[in-house]
Amino acid sequence: MSKKIVAGNWKMHKTAPQTAKFLEELIEKLPANQAEVIVAPTFVNLAEATALTKNSKILVAAQNMHQAEAGAYTGEISAPMLTAIGVNTVILGHSERRQYFGETDGNLVAKVDTALRHDMKVIFCIGEQLADRNKNNHFNVVEYQLRDGLFHLDKKFWNNIVIAYEPVWAIGTGETASPEQAQEMHAHIREVIAKSYGKDLAINVSILYGGSVKPSNAAEIFSKPDVNGGLIGGAALEVNDFIAIINAI
Ligand code: PGA
Repeated sequence: MSKKIVAGNWKMHKTAPQTAKFLEELIEKLPANQAEVIVAPTFVNLAEATALTKNSKILVAAQNMHQAEAGAYTGEISAPMLTAIGVNTVILGHSERRQYFGETDGNLVAKVDTALRHDMKVIFCIGEQLADRNKNNHFNVVEYQLRDGLFHLDKKFWNNIVIAYEPVWAIGTGETASPEQAQEMHAHIREVIAKSYGKDLAINVSILYGGSVKPSNAAEIFSKPDVNGGLIGGAALEVNDFIAIINAI
């Protein structure tokens, strides 16, 4: 069975003191349900976040990383740097990285491989643009992103892969895919994985939905059978909203 996961992607928000305050409150109020809880603060606050959450069930993720182990790449962060401070999860291929920072499918394959080589868990983001959906091409676009980024992997690596389906038109826009739209795409993703890797593997992959998830819509989206949790942006910045979303699972 796939694990339930609620992950907060803080993007370029929260200073060090704000990070500490949020995490202290989250640890104190964390619901005792079975969901895995992940927060992804900005790079400069990762070390403090891992120290603060050390004795809790909260995992800390990076929002990106470079594919090389080390080298002359000014401004970049490597997998060994992350794992050395206890960060063993990384979000890769977020649409904002693809859109604003030139992240390509080729880059992403290298990043995925590096992360897995370092035993990191990868939250791999895929999702169509509004124009793709309007042309009824969304299933194809998502399938290609999935195949391009992950289908070179050997079966054994899928234990460390989490998929986040995030329709680009729903990210930060207040617009959410309906629970039915989320379910049909998640079912499609699982089917595509099953075709290449078998049903047994596919049912164990956690597929998260992302795009304007908030306390008021989380329970309905999470109630769909192929939705195994969420990747939350805006609503993950306020601790009570984030907890309400964790409770919704
Ligand atoms: P949002 O962001 O919840 O603010 O729409 C989701 C994401 O970008 O992961």
